[in-house]
Amino acid sequence: MKGNDLRKAYLDFFESKGHLKLDSFSLVPENDPSLLLIGAGMAPLKPFFTGKLTPPRTRITTCQKSIRTGDLDNVGRTARHHTFFEMLGNFSFGDYFKTEAIHWAWEFLTEVIKLDKSKLYVTVYPDDQEAMDNWLDCGVEESHIFKLEDNFWEIGEGPCGPDSEIFYDLGPERGCGEPTCQPGCDCDRYLEIWNLVFTQFNRTADGNYEPLAQKNIDTGAGLERLASVLQECESNFETDLIFPLIERTAEMAHVTYHEDANTDVSLKVIADHIRACSVLISDGVLPSNEGRGYVLRRILRRAVRHGRLLGINGQFLTSLVDTVMDILGGHVPNLLEKQDFIKRVVANEEERFNQTLAQGLDLLHSLIEKLTEEKSDVVPGVEVFKLYDTYGFPWELTEEIAKEAGLHIDHDGFESAMNEQRIRAREARADVDAKVMTPEIKFLAHETLTENETATDSNILMIGKGTERVKIATDGEDVTIIVRETPFHAEGGGQLGDTGYMMGPMGKVEIHNTKRLPEGTVYHIGTVVEGSISDGETVSFDVDTTRRLSMARNHTATHLLHAALKQVLGTHVNQAGSLVTPEYLRFDFTHFSPVTADELTRIEALVNEQILAMKALDIQEMSMEEAKAKGAMALFGDKYGDRVRVVTVPDFSVELCGGSHVPNTAVVGTFRITSESGTGAGVRRIEAVTGKAAIDMAQADRQIIHHLADQLKTKPATIVERMTQVLAEAKETEHALAIAKKELATSSLDSILNHKFTVNSVTAVVASVSANDMNELRQQADMVRDTVQSGVVLLGAAIGDKVNFVCMATKDVLDKGIHAGNIVKAVAQTAGGNGGGRPDMAQAGGKNPEFLDDALTVGKETICHMVK
Ligand code: ALA
Repeated sequence: MKGNDLRKAYLDFFESKGHLKLDSFSLVPENDPSLLLIGAGMAPLKPFFTGKLTPPRTRITTCQKSIRTGDLDNVGRTARHHTFFEMLGNFSFGDYFKTEAIHWAWEFLTEVIKLDKSKLYVTVYPDDQEAMDNWLDCGVEESHIFKLEDNFWEIGEGPCGPDSEIFYDLGPERGCGEPTCQPGCDCDRYLEIWNLVFTQFNRTADGNYEPLAQKNIDTGAGLERLASVLQECESNFETDLIFPLIERTAEMAHVTYHEDANTDVSLKVIADHIRACSVLISDGVLPSNEGRGYVLRRILRRAVRHGRLLGINGQFLTSLVDTVMDILGGHVPNLLEKQDFIKRVVANEEERFNQTLAQGLDLLHSLIEKLTEEKSDVVPGVEVFKLYDTYGFPWELTEEIAKEAGLHIDHDGFESAMNEQRIRAREARADVDAKVMTPEIKFLAHETLTENETATDSNILMIGKGTERVKIATDGEDVTIIVRETPFHAEGGGQLGDTGYMMGPMGKVEIHNTKRLPEGTVYHIGTVVEGSISDGETVSFDVDTTRRLSMARNHTATHLLHAALKQVLGTHVNQAGSLVTPEYLRFDFTHFSPVTADELTRIEALVNEQILAMKALDIQEMSMEEAKAKGAMALFGDKYGDRVRVVTVPDFSVELCGGSHVPNTAVVGTFRITSESGTGAGVRRIEAVTGKAAIDMAQADRQIIHHLADQLKTKPATIVERMTQVLAEAKETEHALAIAKKELATSSLDSILNHKFTVNSVTAVVASVSANDMNELRQQADMVRDTVQSGVVLLGAAIGDKVNFVCMATKDVLDKGIHAGNIVKAVAQTAGGNGGGRPDMAQAGGKNPEFLDDALTVGKETICHMVK
């Protein structure tokens, strides 16, 4: 049975069992960011399994295009690994369950395609008695049923569950011969041809298994594998679904299949990869350095390299696309009608890689030689990066070639070289507009309609790369593009330029900015991110309208603010600068003093009043005279053409403006001033937000208020009251503390004065006190001296593991022989220290606090001896 007939037989069989036959879905998942590419029949049907969407029928059957790249190294080396394959499947969404799924699978295999029952084996999940009973019921011998612990199927997030697999015994000669060899063994003897999944769970993004509301059936039978059994082939590659590709390649390479193992691998790799590339491109994937585009590039370039290994030097993949069409065209949707397109994309990419492949291979081979000589087994990251960046070698290809020579690559080094490159590219992009070729563009100006918001497509008039004009630009290249008509708004009047995407028939450009040349021509600054774009091509547009709407909100709010400022502050207010971004607006204006809080509140309220009044904006082009007659605010010094665009908010604001605006003031949502400041003599600056940014800010404020309320143990409404109370309490506490401190000081002064004595009419105070530092000790001595008014004071205090002394004497007792310096010296020596000073004031320290009292006794004696 031919492969194409097998596909039809399967779909017809399940159609006869009440299934709705659907075409294969695209390889590019729709609304499923968890998947890069469709890798199983059930993948595009996930929302039907989870109940998120209602299926058109509860029984569906498909033959789904699938791509798996996890095992790329095995492709061409085993009988059954592929990047691209077709998966036959029948699905039940809460309809039939195990009994029908098992019986129908058996019926199809044994009665429709008439496989030999004695060669069929099945596995079941160990607990799954129901599956077991059903297989027995079909007539499967017990000895042909195996229980397998890992019979559970899942693919990342989504529906999953225990499964039951059907194997075909290819004979002991294909096996490993181990006594443990049975269905499920990694060797080639038992070929898994069909998997029946009893979908009962939904695996969430964080790895939990939630039971599904309904029980489902998901099955998958590899078309190429089933064909290999039916056609009694050694591997999938010999089936009529693939073999013509091997024959055609062998012919081009002048080699014979099955003569040399390495040659066979290359032939199989090419056959597999060209199928995958053709189907990927037919589903809109274009070569690029990211995501799906990178998968395509990686396998296409891998195929080109295997072509080289076979000795093919020119381009050869394009002609294989025709062979793919001969085999699958008309059977796989979307393929035949895209034949020319696929060939062009393949040719471009192949040609591009061919230009650098030979050089890159030379470089890599001498590098490998050198490393091997040096007994190193790591290809440095910078070299991997150089091969990637200059020679277009996907790192996986370099890794594969290195591996063949017993080396591996430095992944981290490659990553960091790659990051540095990204930073360089971003920086280079910043001044790309400086290089745009004004003279080249002049001749275009008369045919360029600058802006037209409704334009959906147009054609490219010019592509610039650096300072040059080019015919074509490919992915990774920074470009400036001029089109006949564009919906992108150019930067101007303070508003930033639009961003988004431009799509050509062969590629996609990410637009980072849109600007205008002095004479009016609009140009786009961007990077080709997929495929290529060429001069003259028709492109369609995808402007980031969410971002633009945010800017429109801020731009309309700027006009409202301008008018409100004039009303509140006076007509002397004039615009002195403005910036309109998606995040916020900034408006500079002439005014001679800071705007008060009260004025700001009134200005903000006035703008919000206009928003709430839901006024439709009126935007019209007219002559300058008409505009002036309408009272339009024009900026002094700005140049305007003969026709001007006048933006009016009825009964509030009229301005000349080329920027983006909302259709109605209500769309601004809400307006909130975030700051007011001065920028220079006589110029003030207001910053404000609108729409979601204003709401976000209000919500953030609420968080702060709730936090404050919690801390103050009150409700938001009474925060101010509570805060006043708390502050008053704090003030009171402070006051009470000051009084207490004073009282404490007085009482300690009293106790110090208890140590007063008189020698020959000289008053002396010698005492041990407590103090935290020298400063406090001095303050106490000061206080005692001032209290006694005439006399000598000696205080000592143990501070930490030291002892300190201060001695002070009033002027009048100096004549009587008192010398503070000498007193302190004697005292300090007693306490294991030293010191001295002036006759009226001295301080010293000692190491032995335990001698404090002794020292003070010495002090007393010294004073007595001193006094004449
Ligand atoms: N979804 C199951 C598989 O891909 C049938 O094996």
